Amino acid sequence: MAVGKETVLSDNAFLVSETDAKGNILFANKEFCDIAEYELDDLLGKPHNIVRHEDMPKAAFKDLWDTVKSGEVWQGYVKNKTKSGGYYWVFATVYPYLNEAKEQCYMSCRRKPSREEVTKHEALYKTMI
Ligand SMILES: Cc1cc2nc3c(=O)[nH]c(=O)nc-3n(C[C@H](O)[C@H](O)[C@H](O)COP(=O)(O)O)c2cc1C
Repeated sequence: MAVGKETVLSDNAFLVSETDAKGNILFANKEFCDIAEYELDDLLGKPHNIVRHEDMPKAAFKDLWDTVKSGEVWQGYVKNKTKSGGYYWVFATVYPYLNEAKEQCYMSCRRKPSREEVTKHEALYKTMI
């Protein structure tokens, strides 16, 4: 995968990651690792902004964090960066919950977004940078 190239998710793709209260990665499923081009060991303990793409506006993540910290579920379109400098779009649903030890955690489940929404958000986010 070359710099600037898009990876389009398959229709049934389901990319999952789990973080602690600060957004450090506790788990990522194989599909997440494969699409982002990381080994799980490269991701564990790292801040989730490891896959942040520079085209994503700060306001989107502020909204995400404000929402989940208030106990609500956040949904939105996210452009992420692959290890080799490519990118992939997801429709993410981020959930707050307590783990078995009653510690605050968050989980994001990502599906393939529609092309219409990708086009719309690519343009929208450009106006927010
Ligand atoms: C469960 C969870 C999943 C997240 N997934 C992503 C993600 O896939 N891509 C991303 O850029 N940020 C993700 N974030 C947001 C990051 O924690 C971070 O706020 C964002 O990358 C912006 O980086 P910055 O805070 O350094 O500006 C996630 C946060 C949580 C709680």
